[in-house]
Amino acid sequence: MLTVALPKGRIAEETLEIFEQIFGTTFRFDDRKLILEADGFRFLLVRNQDVPAYVLHQSADIGVVGLDVLEEKDEDLLRLLDLGIGKCKVCVGIQEGKEIDYSAPELKVATKMTHIAQKYFSKKAMAVEIIKLYGSIELAPLVGLSDVIVDIVETGSTMKQNGLKVVETILESSAYLIANKNSFIEKKEEITSLYHQIHTVIQSKAKQKA
Ligand code: PRP
Repeated sequence: MLTVALPKGRIAEETLEIFEQIFGTTFRFDDRKLILEADGFRFLLVRNQDVPAYVLHQSADIGVVGLDVLEEKDEDLLRLLDLGIGKCKVCVGIQEGKEIDYSAPELKVATKMTHIAQKYFSKKAMAVEIIKLYGSIELAPLVGLSDVIVDIVETGSTMKQNGLKVVETILESSAYLIANKNSFIEKKEEITSLYHQIHTVIQSKAKQKA
């Protein structure tokens, strides 16, 4: 039995569709249930940011999670495969008509991704004050809480509708299949065979698109 942690929402749905294609059965969570057991798998439905914790502590053998979350958490996990779904970017945003003031003694950065933001500006040798927020990040520069934001951009409409623009892209993200290192040793055959099956499905999907 393989336990698979999935992030609630579209990525979970798209991952289950891949499993359905492989195994020719239906994988659906009942109403509010958080565990689904079927066909030798146990799927866990968790918050996106919590997937690394479930896999790191081996409550799940494998998981699916965005590269943005993996980079932010920076845990000791195996990255097996880019699934090519859940694409988004982590960007620096600023108000339209403004530019980053590189001469300022300190740049105020609002973000929920403090680790990614800190690392990015350290590399540029810029002094920053990081303001940790949990959502609605785009609001911060509009009310003077920060000079810039570091946030997820998918369609770009949240930034646009709030008068912000992307000035720099830090990371191009998509969902990855990850594994716990011990599970990968203990259940190597199961995980490797699943890896190959998923790989085949996403390759044929990519060919259909091309
Ligand atoms: C994310 C992100 C942006 C928005 C970007 O927020 O923080 O606000 O999506 O998407 P867009 O480019 O398509 O407009 P999310 O909806 O996950 O909510 P949160 O702020 O509560 O995390």
